[in-house]
Amino acid sequence: MSDVMKKLNETVSFINAQINAKATVGVILGSGLGNFIDEVVIEKEINYKDIPHFPVSTVKGHSGKLILGSINGKKIWIMSGRFHFYEGYTPQQVTYPIRVLKLLGVEKLLLSNAAGSVNPNYEVGDLIIIKDHVSFFSANPLIGPNVEELGPRFPDMSEAYSKDIIKLAKSIAEKHQIKVQEGVYVAVTGPTFETRAEYQLIKVIGGDVVGMSTAQENIIAVHCGIKVFAMSVVTDIGIREDDNVITHEEVLIAAKGAEPKFSLLFRELAEALS
Ligand code: HPA
Repeated sequence: MSDVMKKLNETVSFINAQINAKATVGVILGSGLGNFIDEVVIEKEINYKDIPHFPVSTVKGHSGKLILGSINGKKIWIMSGRFHFYEGYTPQQVTYPIRVLKLLGVEKLLLSNAAGSVNPNYEVGDLIIIKDHVSFFSANPLIGPNVEELGPRFPDMSEAYSKDIIKLAKSIAEKHQIKVQEGVYVAVTGPTFETRAEYQLIKVIGGDVVGMSTAQENIIAVHCGIKVFAMSVVTDIGIREDDNVITHEEVLIAAKGAEPKFSLLFRELAEALS
């Protein structure tokens, strides 16, 4: 057995010993989007720092807990707080929890993030369903020996974001009259926000939003056969012509503003998929 699998088995045994539950949907909450859990019944939570082989989150706005929650009786795994490459973790550490979720029984993963927009039709606070991504500007987490037990050496990425889940999300959004748009997410390493030239480049290569997470998690999930849905909350506009200073505080405030509609949509989606 590979070292990775040994570690994963230790992590999963630890979690199973604390929480004996079957849940097939996982949710990862992005910056400023932690309130999703306010209307979820918390059955059990474990701090990341107590989980063997889990990295520990360091960023403001990320609380760092693995939660077993339930929504109208449907159980889901929630990661409140995630790991980013810019914090100094390797791409393998960033994505370690995705494989843990897989071994815990997760089949569908809902990812969320705060992102900058380069699409002139988007405004701060808009919800963007990620229909595809460009991850050339961030390291591929599958570089290195392939973990054969989990998936193939050369995974197909033609449906990196599940068309079925996108359809379902759009129908839930329509029912609640929540405006959603679809776009391409460009993943960067951060921690700098982009220069004006970089935002322009992201637009030229077909991007709509840009952020510092999600794509690596998506790749690891697709590799091991998890269906992925992802949503960005637009927190800043990257291509404004005027003085365009972007701060982390602004990002968190914008995410907070969009949180109610985001949370409603994610809760209903998680419940419907469970
Ligand atoms: N760029 C990259 N990551 C981000 C941004 C951005 O403009 N906003 C929130 N996360």
